[in-house]
Amino acid sequence: MKVRRFSTAALATVYVAAQVESLITREAEPVLGLATGSTPINLYRQLVEFHRQGLSFSHVTTINLDEYVGLQADHPQSYRRFMDDNLFSQVDIPPSNTFLPNGMAPNLDRECGRYDAILDAHPIDLQILGIGRNGHIGFNEPDISLKTQTHVIDLTEDTIRANARFFSTEAEVPTRAITMGIQSILQAKAIFLMAFGRDKAWAVQRALSGEVSTEVPASFLQMHPNVTFVLDEEAAEMLDDPHAAVLGHENLGSRL
Ligand code: GLP
Repeated sequence: MKVRRFSTAALATVYVAAQVESLITREAEPVLGLATGSTPINLYRQLVEFHRQGLSFSHVTTINLDEYVGLQADHPQSYRRFMDDNLFSQVDIPPSNTFLPNGMAPNLDRECGRYDAILDAHPIDLQILGIGRNGHIGFNEPDISLKTQTHVIDLTEDTIRANARFFSTEAEVPTRAITMGIQSILQAKAIFLMAFGRDKAWAVQRALSGEVSTEVPASFLQMHPNVTFVLDEEAAEMLDDPHAAVLGHENLGSRL
């Protein structure tokens, strides 16, 4: 796996945006795998800026990793709304080319099957990933086993707590989500995992440590031939101090 360490998140973001731009200008029908969360927000800002400078998204297809179960598409914290607000409404991508799981589907199993069929029809060229501070990717949470394809997942306490910052109270955070599975993520031709800030340092170190474990879902990326971790200095901090990562992320206390 390649690791690119930048002195700031802003510089790291420009690097990833340039990779996306290069794909969009090179391919006739590029497919982008997209993520939500605070990490890629500035990537989307940068892509909107590129669009204002002439980059067209009219031939692009996007497939998002995940969506909360139980939030309407226009709920301020739904991932559909996040994508509409931060990217889709500001570029010339046809709305019918943008795919996210439907967390309001009456039959969630059928919705997972529908999403896998979309993934089969549109192989992802470039997948953007963030990482949870517990090492999750998409919403593939640490567990004794991981699902390969799109599935419904119970969110961990840690993830609910981490995501509560976007809601007025922790009780409002949905407890379930639909997420692409690990195998679907690994099928992307190229993967860029972005991680910024000290609270991601443990997950980054464990993901890169050489051990593949379902307890750190991002460690499965080691099995992919074309993954780049794009980090700022803080997220890269434990790569120089692997002993710190022996502790669980929940035990690091003041280090985070
Ligand atoms: C969320 C998303 C992930 C995201 C992660 C980190 O729960 N499901 O796709 O990468 O958590 O989010 P953030 O970038 O806000 O730290």
